[in-house]
Amino acid sequence: MRRVGGSCSDAKTATTKDTKGHEENLGPGRSQTLADSPAIISDVAVRGRFITFEGLDGSGKSTQLEKLARSLRAHGLSVAVTREPGGTATGEKIREVLLHSATAGLSPFTEMALMFASRAQHIHEVILPALAEGRIVLCDRFTDSTEAYQGGGRKLGSKAVLQLHEILCGNLQPDLTILLDNEAAFSVDRARRRNRKHKGGRSEKGPERAAERDENRFEQESRAFFGRVRHAYLAIAHREPQRVHVINARGTPSETHADIMELVRKKLKI
Ligand code: TMP
Repeated sequence: MRRVGGSCSDAKTATTKDTKGHEENLGPGRSQTLADSPAIISDVAVRGRFITFEGLDGSGKSTQLEKLARSLRAHGLSVAVTREPGGTATGEKIREVLLHSATAGLSPFTEMALMFASRAQHIHEVILPALAEGRIVLCDRFTDSTEAYQGGGRKLGSKAVLQLHEILCGNLQPDLTILLDNEAAFSVDRARRRNRKHKGGRSEKGPERAAERDENRFEQESRAFFGRVRHAYLAIAHREPQRVHVINARGTPSETHADIMELVRKKLKI
């Protein structure tokens, strides 16, 4: 099987390129325009299935994504696992700029632009080629994160995010979005505890691993910030109930996984 995504833990190495998707369809001498994008995307999206996971930091979505990937593979399905920001070599470099505590001075607009830069590359290099091959793509965060964190948390609003999504991402929509919901205080405390634990082991590992663990810029935000992020997430779910399904993340990981499997079975008809 050709590797497209790579797991969340090794998404840095997910650099497989497939040039069939975009460029060859466009033909020689034509550059990709705004008008081209949606058609290209709907052509390929009908084959695979695109599932995104969303939620606050510490909501348990990465664990649940891995569990779902294992279950789907056990059913014999071909699954690509990836994440945002990141998922490509370029995206992982952008991730470092975005999440490292040393770059805390980014303006909200810079932050939003970098999220979309990572995403545009990710769609081109990983997501569309995998969908074209008929694979199931499980993506840890997508544009809903930008709408919730930059639109809601940073107060940039939804309109700019949705417009950029249309321009830069051809308005690619997931077939299913699983929103893991929990109280902001609970999720963020969990994320902070996780980060403190990681930092404890820093001296034993190389500088690259240490940089990976210093991804706590957002976790340093206030409770009010995360309250706005959660509110924005729930508003998206309310606006798009067909696509976005809210899963209660207060149970044990196994209970949450069972709820997700029931939903995915219904949606994918497996
Ligand atoms: P992660 O820890 O779930 O990988 O996400 C990294 C952080 O980036 C998390 O705090 C949420 C934030 N983020 C945004 O603010 N906007 C976005 O568009 C994305 C994809 C992530």
